[in-house]
Amino acid sequence: MSRKTAEEHADNWDLRDQDFNDNDFLYAVYDVMRQKSAFAHTEHPFLSATPGGAWVAVRYAECYRILQDWEHFSSNPTPEGAEQLAGDLVITLDPPRQQKFRKVLNPYFSPARMRSLQPQIRAETDRLIDDFVQAGRGDLAQVAWRQPGIVFFKYLLGMPTDDVPLCIELTDTALNGETEEARMGAWGGLYQHIHDAVTARTSGSARDDMIDVLLTAEIDGERLPLADVVSNAMLLVQAGLETTANAMSFAFHYLACHPAERDRLIDEPDLVPRAVEEFIRFAGSIHGIPRTVAGEVELGGQVFCPGESVLVNYAAANRDPDVFADADRCVLDRRENRHLGFGAGVHRCLGSNLARLEFQIGLKQVLARMPDYTLAPDAEAVFHGSSVTRGFRSIPVVFNPGQRSAA
Ligand code: HEM
Repeated sequence: MSRKTAEEHADNWDLRDQDFNDNDFLYAVYDVMRQKSAFAHTEHPFLSATPGGAWVAVRYAECYRILQDWEHFSSNPTPEGAEQLAGDLVITLDPPRQQKFRKVLNPYFSPARMRSLQPQIRAETDRLIDDFVQAGRGDLAQVAWRQPGIVFFKYLLGMPTDDVPLCIELTDTALNGETEEARMGAWGGLYQHIHDAVTARTSGSARDDMIDVLLTAEIDGERLPLADVVSNAMLLVQAGLETTANAMSFAFHYLACHPAERDRLIDEPDLVPRAVEEFIRFAGSIHGIPRTVAGEVELGGQVFCPGESVLVNYAAANRDPDVFADADRCVLDRRENRHLGFGAGVHRCLGSNLARLEFQIGLKQVLARMPDYTLAPDAEAVFHGSSVTRGFRSIPVVFNPGQRSAA
């Protein structure tokens, strides 16, 4: 089937286009966009509700500047967008209130707290591998998608792990559903589900988890309204499930297709943290979160007017050849790697320490327990590319059968 050229896509980039199930093609489109100008324009922004489309920042330098300049490039959506939100969300607030939310949430993601979770994350990963390790074949997407959800729900958020599959499905439909109606329906379903989980907790005894933290937090001397507690819990669910799962799924698939790289990580396990950073740069980052122009400002030769929407494309920035040597190659031992995969500035990812740990342990356990795994010759891996977060939904693999763990 014929498809649009990279140049045609670059003129009006629409991430929902099925052509972008070809990962290399999407990055070829970004190359064209980056070469033409620091900012492309799209009538089809994935997440922004601004009428008239949005600008798309595709070069590293401008993305970085936007992320640092929250006074001109606000995370608060336009009034139309704000009406659709239920409550104050940390990701759609600006300082100083945003920083007060961060102060409440940050301790839950501290490096020390994350380190203490290592044995539990390893055991949860092992349990998922146990489901198929004796068969000598399985689907690694199951590990990539379930492990971050189980870890986050059980050890941080305080929701039942039985809810993980439903929340994954609702989050996925909310982002990628075929129609606006399906997407809005899924947002509503997710909101209601989390609302019920939060309200069930308002009467019970205190627990040391994030739902409790949100319920008892005081900002400027006042408790958060219930709508804010639910909305922020919902943001954490979306942010915690889909991003890490997609990034990890990409790594599992990449190593199945590159056995020499897989063997190198097995022989040199100290490389794993650097490899994880490279996977996040190369494929695991987000393809656009909006900012709204709050005051006239010039950047990269472009004047922006108040009310305009600008998408920061972290993934395109992460392939900018002005910043990364061999930008289109996955270099597992890359040394200089100041990628924007987790963002930058005041909204820099709250869960980056958790994501890194889940990802590193996921990789280590898979490589330790099925070191010779490769793609199954009789089944296709399924990649989903027409979304802000992109990854594999199925990675059928074969390997020499192993033993169940003691987990
Ligand atoms: C590989 C995995 C992940 C990637 C690539 C990623 C990426 C990002 C990016 C690019 C931002 C900045 C958004 C902006 O500039 O507006 C962000 C913010 C955020 N992330 Fe992550 N993230 C990941 C994992 C997680 C996890 C596991 C959690 C929590 C469980 C999380 C929670 C958040 C939250 C709450 C924010 C908003 C912070 C704020 O507005 O101050 N993320 N993430």
